[in-house]
Amino acid sequence: LIASLEQVDQTYIMVKPDGMQRGLVGEIIFRFEKKGFKLTDLKLFKCSKELAEEHYKDLKQKSFFPKLIDYITSGPVVCMAWEGVGVVASARKLIGATYPLQAEPDTIRGDLTVQTRKNVVHGSDNPENGKHEIGKASYAIQFNPNTCNKHRCEL
Ligand code: TYD
Repeated sequence: LIASLEQVDQTYIMVKPDGMQRGLVGEIIFRFEKKGFKLTDLKLFKCSKELAEEHYKDLKQKSFFPKLIDYITSGPVVCMAWEGVGVVASARKLIGATYPLQAEPDTIRGDLTVQTRKNVVHGSDNPENGKHEIGKASYAIQFNPNTCNKHRCEL
């Protein structure tokens, strides 16, 4: 009964350019599937500057913002919609802390990176943002390897 009262949410999970370049897409999907969440949409795209700036608009005043935008637009990203009870908060736990050196072992960032900007994956911070970010991603143009030579994150 308690479980049935809990809300099924959606979250936006994005494998960032470093995760894509390092071949970590399967590893990340594996962790979310193992936990019991449901993958409901997936696409590969190269994030435009406009979409990146919208996605990170809350961080616009931060000194690291320009480098963050350059990095996130530097190569293809894998964007996914995941669904499940409590998926937003649980995904943030599976991802781990923003600063990978502070992220706990057994989390994605804790296990797979030491660099803050190149921290492998993004996850929405609340259910409203989850829906909003999935909606935005659905309009983004799909990555086409035949028309884009930049397969590698070079930043
Ligand atoms: P933020 O939304 O605070 O973290 P999270 O991704 O854990 O929700 O920041 C967005 C991204 O900005 C973060 O994943 C990496 C980058 N970033 C930096 O490059 N330097 C920093 O000092 C911080 C806080 C974030």
